[in-house]
Amino acid sequence: SRDDRIARIASAIRVIPDFPKPGIMFQDITTLLLDPKAFKDTIDLFVERYKGKDISVVAGIEARGFIFGPPIALAIGAKFVPMRKPKKLPGRDLLHQSFALWEVISEEYSLEYGTDKMEMHVGAVQAGERALIIDDLIATGGTLCAAIRLLERVGVHVVECACVIELADLKWRNSRVIIFIYLGNKIL
Ligand code: PRP
Repeated sequence: SRDDRIARIASAIRVIPDFPKPGIMFQDITTLLLDPKAFKDTIDLFVERYKGKDISVVAGIEARGFIFGPPIALAIGAKFVPMRKPKKLPGRDLLHQSFALWEVISEEYSLEYGTDKMEMHVGAVQAGERALIIDDLIATGGTLCAAIRLLERVGVHVVECACVIELADLKWRNSRVIIFIYLGNKIL
């Protein structure tokens, strides 16, 4: 059943206390990847939800969205678009050049301390396309919100954001598969 699969997935995720800093319960998905059945179940749960929903873009967030996103994209017949850390995607600054395939746009987002940036190739998507955003984990939701803003800036409709693990307020609750529904500017 669905619950059995979710329980198996949850138990395949390793929790490492005090990594990388004291007080952080690190959710390590590398052990999930070592269990082919649990890894496949994870991908299947997403595919069951998103197949036939007219999604043409799966956007994966660096780094672990690059692990879960591509198999989902292949299974639902969508393209995979990486959302990357700054200065990783080759491109030119949109402010200084006219539109071209390799141009990059970026969005800032806040971390617990300071800010970070996420970048996307503009020409990877077209206005009007329907996208699913994939990451391994949501904590504050800041990362997923930046990804939503990037796609919406170029006219893409974000159908949903989905990730494997939810962390509430940076405090560990439990590891489970959870689907976050994106409605308006909220991730539920
Ligand atoms: C983690 C995780 C998400 C993000 C969630 O990535 O993989 O992408 O944090 O946090 P938020 O909901 O509070 O924004 P991390 O910043 O560790 O980067 P990495 O995947 O490159 O290690």
